[in-house]
Amino acid sequence: MGVYLKATARAHTNIALIKYWGKRDESLFLPMNNSLSITLDKFHTTTAVEFCPCLPVDLFIMNNQLASSAEMAKITHFLDRVRGMSGKSWHAVVHSTNNFPTAAGFASSASGYAALAAAATKAIGLDLGNKALSQLARLGSGSACRSIYGGYVEWQKGEKDDGTDSFAKPVLEGGDWDLSIVSVLVTDTPKTVSSREGMKRTVETSPFYSGWLDSVEADFLHAKEALIHHDFELLGSIIESNALKMHATTLGANPPFMYWNSATLDVIKEVQSLRSGGIQAYFTIDAGPNVKVLCQPKDEQAVRESLEKLPNVQNTYLCHPGPGLTYL
Ligand code: DP6
Repeated sequence: MGVYLKATARAHTNIALIKYWGKRDESLFLPMNNSLSITLDKFHTTTAVEFCPCLPVDLFIMNNQLASSAEMAKITHFLDRVRGMSGKSWHAVVHSTNNFPTAAGFASSASGYAALAAAATKAIGLDLGNKALSQLARLGSGSACRSIYGGYVEWQKGEKDDGTDSFAKPVLEGGDWDLSIVSVLVTDTPKTVSSREGMKRTVETSPFYSGWLDSVEADFLHAKEALIHHDFELLGSIIESNALKMHATTLGANPPFMYWNSATLDVIKEVQSLRSGGIQAYFTIDAGPNVKVLCQPKDEQAVRESLEKLPNVQNTYLCHPGPGLTYL
């Protein structure tokens, strides 16, 4: 029997409570600011990697379909790092499956690169701890460094030029504080400005970006305090205003852009009216029009029902804090 270099790993998506928005180094995916997230139980990517001397190139199969050459090139670039770390030069076949529709508006790059980092390093015989895995996943997509861990996670931006101090770590276990996240799908049309392009354009051209940088560290520290003290009202109000500030920077970019559509605003208004009616619910929005609404488990049904009544809401998905990496 030949050497069998195969491993399978699963990682869950995460949503940012305090946004990663802007890089100080594009090739090393080093962020301008610290960020904070919740890893979700419902959505995950499962990735199997098999290295073989028989392969002339890498192959990437996403949801049972051969990926485009652009996607393939990104995977090869990432696997080159893994090969560099291990000293082995074999190519690999990568099979990745999302348990959610890729076009459903949920970020898959975070769970995707976290699962790929874990499966590829294990397959090639490297035994990396979570810190090193987080740093490696970061080099595929910044937010992926947070999907290594379950529950509530922070990404320390780090100060060093080589990125060795830029990685995620857990803040609170999911089981320590159960919150509900209602993920609201308003469109499944792919966005026209990727988060990568959007943050770059904003850093380079938006006069509002300095306002983001001036305020995000205080948001991060207050949100972390609120998490540790289980202060839902405080956490909710900070994450909502942090999301609004991030989206405000895009309006000042050149050319300007906006991730919201009119249904995004309908959801925002509904969340505000839930609050006036005494239900604590707060929204956050990543780089797209879909909205995530945070509430406490006792209110999750009421929140979900009221959002599903909106004519432009296509679907809602109820999530809770989920687990970190697992190997299958
Ligand atoms: C708005 O991690 O997708 O969701 O590092 O360029 O791959 P790259 O960007 P990505 O950006 C995520 C941006 C965000 C905020 C966040 O997740 O913190």
